[in-house]
Amino acid sequence: MASVALRAVFSFSSCALLMTSLHDPAAAATTPVESPAQQRAVTQPHSIASREDPHSYADAANARVEHLDLDLAVDFAQQRLTGTVDLRVKRKAGVRELFLDTRDIDVESVAVVDNKGQAVPAKFQVGTRDRILGSPLRIELPASGGETLTVRVAYRTQPSASGLQWVEPRQTAGRKHPFLYSQSQAIHARSWIPLQDSPSVRFTYAAKIRVPPKMTAVMSASRIGTNVAPDQRFEMKQAIPSYLMALGVGDLVFRPTGPRTGVWAEPSVSDAATKEFADTEKMLEVGEKLFGPYRWERYELLILPPSFPFGGMENPRLSFITPTAIAGDRSLTSLIAHELAHSWSGNLVTNATWRDFWLNEGFTTFLERRIVDALYGKRRLAMEESLGVQSLEEDFANLPESGRILAIDLRKLDPDNDGFSQVPYEKGFLFLRYLESKVGRQRFDAFLREYFDRFAFQSITTADVLEFIRTRLLRGESEVSTARLQEWVTQPGLPKDAVIPGSDALAKVDEQRSAWLAGKTPAAQLKTSEWTTQEWLHFIDNLPKQLTPQQMAEVDKAFGFTRAGNSEIAHSWLRVAIRNHYQPAMPRLREYLVTIGRRKLIKPLYEDLMKQSWGPPVAKQIYAEARPGYHPMAVTTLDPIVNPPKSANQ
Ligand code: BES
Ligand code: ZN
Repeated sequence: MASVALRAVFSFSSCALLMTSLHDPAAAATTPVESPAQQRAVTQPHSIASREDPHSYADAANARVEHLDLDLAVDFAQQRLTGTVDLRVKRKAGVRELFLDTRDIDVESVAVVDNKGQAVPAKFQVGTRDRILGSPLRIELPASGGETLTVRVAYRTQPSASGLQWVEPRQTAGRKHPFLYSQSQAIHARSWIPLQDSPSVRFTYAAKIRVPPKMTAVMSASRIGTNVAPDQRFEMKQAIPSYLMALGVGDLVFRPTGPRTGVWAEPSVSDAATKEFADTEKMLEVGEKLFGPYRWERYELLILPPSFPFGGMENPRLSFITPTAIAGDRSLTSLIAHELAHSWSGNLVTNATWRDFWLNEGFTTFLERRIVDALYGKRRLAMEESLGVQSLEEDFANLPESGRILAIDLRKLDPDNDGFSQVPYEKGFLFLRYLESKVGRQRFDAFLREYFDRFAFQSITTADVLEFIRTRLLRGESEVSTARLQEWVTQPGLPKDAVIPGSDALAKVDEQRSAWLAGKTPAAQLKTSEWTTQEWLHFIDNLPKQLTPQQMAEVDKAFGFTRAGNSEIAHSWLRVAIRNHYQPAMPRLREYLVTIGRRKLIKPLYEDLMKQSWGPPVAKQIYAEARPGYHPMAVTTLDPIVNPPKSANQ
């Protein structure tokens, strides 16, 4: 039944004139639309127990989406997805309206499909666009039809959709074919599907994606049929939140890394990626042993173009991964452990609102490190923990007090910019490590398994977790007081009895660095032959703020930092190079910023540049060149850094 509507959408979207005549201009005009859920969420006092989501217009308590059926065509020439979504909605008796989230979506028509499969047009309004939330789509539901209805929205995305990147062929590995991928977290699914875009609403989905010849579509779902047909089909049987809706389309091949795991990549990176991530199957086995059954059947990776704004994204069954993690020596694979770990913390047990984001990321960072421990041992674990603490300290130093809180009040704020830092990751991790230190590993591991069983396929709040910790992990106030638990999640900084991990290996790096800085040992004679990526990062990150030109030249000559192919090492070194205005690294800096779009790697470089007396013109020039290749989310973050609003300047 969806195909009838699809033909209709295709025929009018390929003919602009006919389209405008079919389009009801009155319905599309943006009108004030009051969402009761939105009102509730922004007016109630801040509470770690609230289930109201301030970042969605959906009023799911009254009408809730249970299932999506997508039917979309991928149009690379127009940079649009075009088609329909059928939403199966369950409503309370008497409810006559449905609120969906959208951002910059052209809604063509809305209908309610009756039980004979007939689409009956429905009235709808697109509300005024909010800078952060986008526009509510209010749909009038018929009195008849019972408690479960199917609502069909025919729509087109805009080329600027915040949750999609349309990558030009020259920015891909193969340079021949374009690439499209989605990034829905946190609130961007609404820019490519009209839906209830809140992590507290879970649904199953099916999809039919029409792609150009020779292109492969992949989704956060299981494939039905082959990847050669023009119509590629998918099904996700487990209920997921909207931020895990994911689509990738490109010139892709698959290579297994084990019975349940494998890698999708462009042909020219497939070999390197498959080798780099060969441990994925083992990671999955370790995960199951530690955290309970893996409930998503398969675990695959999709290697994206370098403009992907994140290291990884835990889309279920198919994590999206930056190619900058392919270091050649498997030294950055904790990223895979992290995204895999989200199969438990995040995808199975999900934050109810973005205030509770630390539940996703803090637990995942903890799980990630349990996997790293099992696979790579204590030495690497301790180094990664210690580097994590350092990155937390850097953020603590730069963030306002409110940003140093775990359960952060994000009302009126953008979860993708204002809420994003190392705090949910590393402070969340330290909180769990603290609890583990109080009860011992055995009890803590048992607690984790119980937690995943108890809350599987649910979305929960910070208060839910504290209560579970109090009742299921701790044996009374004497182990950890309720006040202390509260302090961890509601107060800035770290409680005074936090356990801060250190690393012997990194302490040795400190000794070597000091010997060099004191003039005792020339750089070329430092004992570095056994060093891995983590030692190098620590060496570089803790160089003094200012080095002499001679020192800069000496370390660079001894270790080839400017030429480093490892994206993290290059990043750390380029920060030092900027601070010291080290000219020989400037061409590399430009090249780095123009090819890589991973926010964590490029944002500090632009910030550092802007702080130098000579920096702003250089930053602006490079940015002008790089910006067209960046993802919309990277652009949102970087625009105000490189071109600060006048008032923020002084
Ligand atoms: N889920 C996040 C990425 C994310 C967070 C996207 C918030 C949008 C909004 C993912 O699991 C993640 O944490 N990625 C990290 C890598 C990790 C090893 C810390 C990243 O991208 O840097
Ligand atoms: Zn994560």
